[in-house]
Amino acid sequence: MVPAYVPNPVAALCGGGTPIDFNRTWSDGKRILGDGKTWRGLVCGVLSGILVGALQIWLVMTCHWDLPQHTVVSITLLALGALLGDMGKSFFKRRLGKERGDAWPVADQYDLVAGAFLLALIFDPAWFFSVMTIPILIAILILTPLLHRSVNIIGYRIKVKKEPW
Ligand code: CTP
Ligand code: MG
Repeated sequence: MVPAYVPNPVAALCGGGTPIDFNRTWSDGKRILGDGKTWRGLVCGVLSGILVGALQIWLVMTCHWDLPQHTVVSITLLALGALLGDMGKSFFKRRLGKERGDAWPVADQYDLVAGAFLLALIFDPAWFFSVMTIPILIAILILTPLLHRSVNIIGYRIKVKKEPW
């Protein structure tokens, strides 16, 4: 899941500039995604996820580390899926009238898992079912909110994020 966990904090670090929705509004008059989702954050985030995934593949191939099997396809699906999940969440946040940065418990923590799993299931189900055993699934469900909270508190303390969630 590392290629799915890295894109969000990297997007927070290097995001900014043109919003993905180009400032456009939805039929309800509210922004489609809002200023918290930018092209720079998306591109840097996805590339960073692919980069750490490539490092994992390299460690398995050359140093024979005992890590889950990855391919260029699987790491790309995880990295892209994580931020697409984040964007999907922002879309529904705006429809519910929540402002940029408002907390939305559960969705804020699991959006990246939902997005990453969905893309992997659609485009590489063989990989998904070969690595996602029940114990791994349980570990992901427990670890994700803990990691999310810890990293966001660090981001808040070092003033990268405006909110500690
Ligand atoms: N970010 C970005 N582009 C993305 C995702 C994140 O630029 N695709 C940056 C933004 O600066 C954003 C910050 O990372 O403010 C934190 O991300 P997140 O908490 O997901 O966004 P919020 O500002 O909370 O916006 P939302 O309410 O839409 O989730
Ligand atoms: Mg947020």
